[in-house]
Amino acid sequence: MSPSIQPIRGMNDVLPAEIGAWQHLDHVVRGLLAVYGYDEVRVPIVEHTELYRRGIGEFTDIVEKEMYTFTDSGGDSLTLRPEATAGVVRAVISNGLLRGARLKLWTQGPMFRHERPQKGRYRQFHQYSVEAVGFPGPDVDIELIALSARLWRALGIGRVRLEINSLGTTEARARYREVLVGYLQAHEAVLDADSRRRLGGNPLRVLDSKNPAMQALIAGAPVLTEHLDAESATHFAQVRAGLDALGIGYTVNPRLVRGLDYYSRTVFEWVTDALGSQDAVCSGGRYDGLVPQLGGEPTPAVGFALGVERVVALLAQGAAVPAAPAPAVYLIAAGEAAQRAAPRMAEALRDALPGRGVIQNLGGGNIGTQFRRADRSGALFAVVLGEAELERGVAAVKPLRSEGGQSECPLEELPARVAAFVQES
Ligand code: HAM
Repeated sequence: MSPSIQPIRGMNDVLPAEIGAWQHLDHVVRGLLAVYGYDEVRVPIVEHTELYRRGIGEFTDIVEKEMYTFTDSGGDSLTLRPEATAGVVRAVISNGLLRGARLKLWTQGPMFRHERPQKGRYRQFHQYSVEAVGFPGPDVDIELIALSARLWRALGIGRVRLEINSLGTTEARARYREVLVGYLQAHEAVLDADSRRRLGGNPLRVLDSKNPAMQALIAGAPVLTEHLDAESATHFAQVRAGLDALGIGYTVNPRLVRGLDYYSRTVFEWVTDALGSQDAVCSGGRYDGLVPQLGGEPTPAVGFALGVERVVALLAQGAAVPAAPAPAVYLIAAGEAAQRAAPRMAEALRDALPGRGVIQNLGGGNIGTQFRRADRSGALFAVVLGEAELERGVAAVKPLRSEGGQSECPLEELPARVAAFVQES
């Protein structure tokens, strides 16, 4: 035997035992997004590296150290998407969808970041990414947060709370940046290597440092919310008032700066205390500058992304995930002639029971083995094609989950009869 091939660290298989929660989440999210008027789009997993450099920002962790970037055989630098917003905006621009349009879009799928894997943090992970392009807000900011709040209710997830902040306009941030740089330079001796580098590029990111040695310095730093421009301050007050009016609780966290550079004004994060250090389950904000930065006409936009693995982990902690429906029928075939007849009977049963599970016994086995498989499958009824019965033009139907004996039925009537049994059960 050849040595087995190992999976890539931080990239997980989702096995049948776990898939129910993923499918349930998908069902609920799709339904909610339709209710709020969002349309699904699908964009490529690979884009030009330049898209993320320009969109997410040169001095972010993602672009600096986490991207899966490679040169393809044509010599182009390509990157596996670390997030979906830049790709959706690129798609909106390159398909000519802008022109003053108001677009409510969502997409989903795998994202790739070369982070240090740990519980809740993976190198391939999945997001639902929801993007409203062409809306200046604050109404849409409020509605997006209401959508996410409704999602937790729909999923039965209680251990999440909302943090919000405003990053102001680019200009206000530039003014704040000067104040912050002054403060950080005055304490340069305390800065770690990462922070020193960021001081010249994106000093706001210094506030995001998780280094314990930096925390006192960060706690004493000037706060962005106190340097907001008047319009952003009004916008933020309106977002807060909107959330208050809807009864959605939140805390204003002035240190919430987010890990991507494209944000302006509203940013928010749903966090949980149920998953250890990887506490953000849904995060986003307004990115009014991103469309022009990627070559489109100036267009305001706002969105968020839901971390699927983290939400699935919360679901696993007790929220009710509906079980997959049991198959209706397990078809048992004893003897060669019966096995030859089984595929046609299975298809006829599937015609009579649209959408219901009809499992044909595969790989033979004696009747006892087949009955055991039927039982394990959870099927409501076993249909038994036996050699002798087949000669008489009949088959047996046996309820597996309720009292009641086996009955015989002419083959031509069998699909309709079984369908009636299933309906009654
Ligand atoms: P983000 O905060 O980088 O934002 O990611 C959004 C969510 O994805 C996080 O809250 C978290 O639940 C999940 N996530 C991120 N990294 C990982 C990881 N390594 N493993 C598992 N889950 C992870 C964005 O990606 C923005 N594009 C969100 C957005 C959309 N902003 C506006 N529109």
